[in-house]
Amino acid sequence: MKIQIINGPNLNLLGKREPGVYGSMSFEEYLKELRGHYPDVQLDYYQSNVEGELINKIHEVGFDYDGIILNAGAYTHTSVALHDAIRAVKTPVIEVHISNVHKREEFRHKSMISSACMGVICGFGMASYRLAVEALKGDGC
Ligand code: DQA
Repeated sequence: MKIQIINGPNLNLLGKREPGVYGSMSFEEYLKELRGHYPDVQLDYYQSNVEGELINKIHEVGFDYDGIILNAGAYTHTSVALHDAIRAVKTPVIEVHISNVHKREEFRHKSMISSACMGVICGFGMASYRLAVEALKGDGC
């Protein structure tokens, strides 16, 4: 099984960025743990701060991977182009957020991409990504 994780803007700073909200672990450290959990799954990782590059990555993997786990960061709340990219591909996309966006500022309550995604997982810290892998594996409860 091949899963692509895509992180959007400012998520390259995980571990340093607002640790009270996002925790103190870098994504690279977390990814090592996640890969150790799922030796049978190919877990590829891509991060960009540039909206068009996120779209290009969705196009690149979106016809041949089994799933995409997308944390679009702040583009979640603004990007019609990401919504369209998700709709344009075959691979199911799961929207994830580390923080519970619904407990935060009102501008984070609206997602432009949720309606194009298979589902949404938010508010479980880094474990949001693992829960998304579980959902894509679809092994039941
Ligand atoms: C985030 C939530 C977004 O509102 C924010 O802009 C981020 C991170 C999260 O993972 O909690 O950059 O997607």
